[in-house]
Amino acid sequence: MWGSRIGLILAMAGNAVGLGNFLRFPRQAVLGGGGSFMVAYFVALLLIGIPLMWIEWGVGRHAGRFRKGHVPGMFAALWHHPAAKYLGVIGLVIPLAVFIYYTYIESWTLAYTFFSVTHDYWGRATQAEMVSYLQSFQGFGAEHVHGAWTPFLFFALTLFVNVYVVSKGISGGIERLAKVGMPVLFLFAIVLAVVVATLPAGPGGETAATGLQYIYEPDLSRLGDANVWLAAAGQIFFTLSVGMGTLQAYASYLSRKDDIVLSGLATASTNEAVEVVLGGTIAIPAAVVFFGVSGAVAVAQSGSFNLGFATMPVIFQQMPFGGLLGFMWFGLLFFAGITSSVAMATPILAFFREEFGMQRERVAWTLGGVAFGLGLLHVLWLEYGFLDEWDYWMGTFGLVLFAVVEVILFMWVLGPSRAWASLHEGADVRIPAFFKTVMTVVTPLYLIVILVWWGVTDALPILRLEVAAGGGAVAPEAVPYILLSRGLLVLMLLVFLWLIHLAWKRNGYADRSGFVDFDEETAAEVAA
Ligand code: TRP
Repeated sequence: MWGSRIGLILAMAGNAVGLGNFLRFPRQAVLGGGGSFMVAYFVALLLIGIPLMWIEWGVGRHAGRFRKGHVPGMFAALWHHPAAKYLGVIGLVIPLAVFIYYTYIESWTLAYTFFSVTHDYWGRATQAEMVSYLQSFQGFGAEHVHGAWTPFLFFALTLFVNVYVVSKGISGGIERLAKVGMPVLFLFAIVLAVVVATLPAGPGGETAATGLQYIYEPDLSRLGDANVWLAAAGQIFFTLSVGMGTLQAYASYLSRKDDIVLSGLATASTNEAVEVVLGGTIAIPAAVVFFGVSGAVAVAQSGSFNLGFATMPVIFQQMPFGGLLGFMWFGLLFFAGITSSVAMATPILAFFREEFGMQRERVAWTLGGVAFGLGLLHVLWLEYGFLDEWDYWMGTFGLVLFAVVEVILFMWVLGPSRAWASLHEGADVRIPAFFKTVMTVVTPLYLIVILVWWGVTDALPILRLEVAAGGGAVAPEAVPYILLSRGLLVLMLLVFLWLIHLAWKRNGYADRSGFVDFDEETAAEVAA
């Protein structure tokens, strides 16, 4: 159970606020044409983001009645059908897979925090030199700045901290981390945003305002481009952490007396404030001041991490207290990352503890071992797009698939009126009635359109190896690694399907009828 409401909100916000807010958002906004992207972004926030946020809190808390903190159990709690639990497999494999590569990326932020303090990359005055440094750290490219063991060391260290926090439980680990990590993150982000906003004009005469204007000036010119809408919806998914099973896991530790309407909205609002205000004010305006709008667009196009790991360090070196600023930038990324990655571990912990009676510590350390083993493949084969495959199938496409299933189960199988009533148990405020229609009709349709559109324009070409999951052409030498990467995902799906089967047999669940409804049981005891 959660210790306090503020702790819950901070942990939920920590779940949502992640690398996506500071690295992915600025890049997507620039690629999507700034103001055009933002229009599509806010539409997606209203029609799928906020509705899904409420639905996921509702799904999780509903499952909490049966003491289920994992998605197979949640789906079974909603739909009394043998298939429900198997559909829930995506709610175990997605967070596990994303946990593995996300902690690896998180480990770069830890390494760069350290490199900023030691001025390790100092003297690299151009973005090209910083990209070369990044590639060297990632284990490829022409240079060899650090020993080959360096990325492994930081990855192991990052996993260790994650596992340690998770092994201490919900209120003793995750909530305590959020109570320290989130305020630090806010502080660092506010300082950086103020520093960037007050930068003197750059060589081309641009100021931070030029960058802000690029993002915030509404622009309808690219709204005819379906890709902008898809990218915006994808960002809403990723940034709010919906479609994974982790918000639900957190919400399963709540009771019917707890509010979820206002808390869910507070979580989404915090995430959006951090993303749009703080995330939007740091990387893009800084890049625009130093390299102009076209320079910023070029960096964003050149690779997912170049804005954060190459452009920002070049800029810090030209500023007073650059080492401190670099420490704050990468430190804030690390805190943003770790409060998210511990959330991804939660569904796995819940599954093994609830269904196989395993102890939290044991599951946590085993997970750490498995994540390290599989993560090594990402470290070794990053350049072949091994990670991009997981990020696409699990972290992008999988989320939407998951959300479609979930919305249908909650809004249609449980039914709109019961869903609505369930959301409002213990609620501090009521959801505006118009959202009932949105959540029942608009959200599922919007999601299905995205899924099909994405399926046809994106997923099929990627599946057929016509396009790389990370963009661009598929290099012939990368093909075996891509296939291996996918094979591993399929294997994980099969293993978890089997584990779900075992769990149901072991515990004698005839689907949901085998679950104990602890709410009804308590009510019966009170009546007696
Ligand atoms: N929202 C996180 C970010 O912005 C990423 C994320 C996606 C996530 N799904 C998640 C985090 C599930 C925790 C749990 O970086």
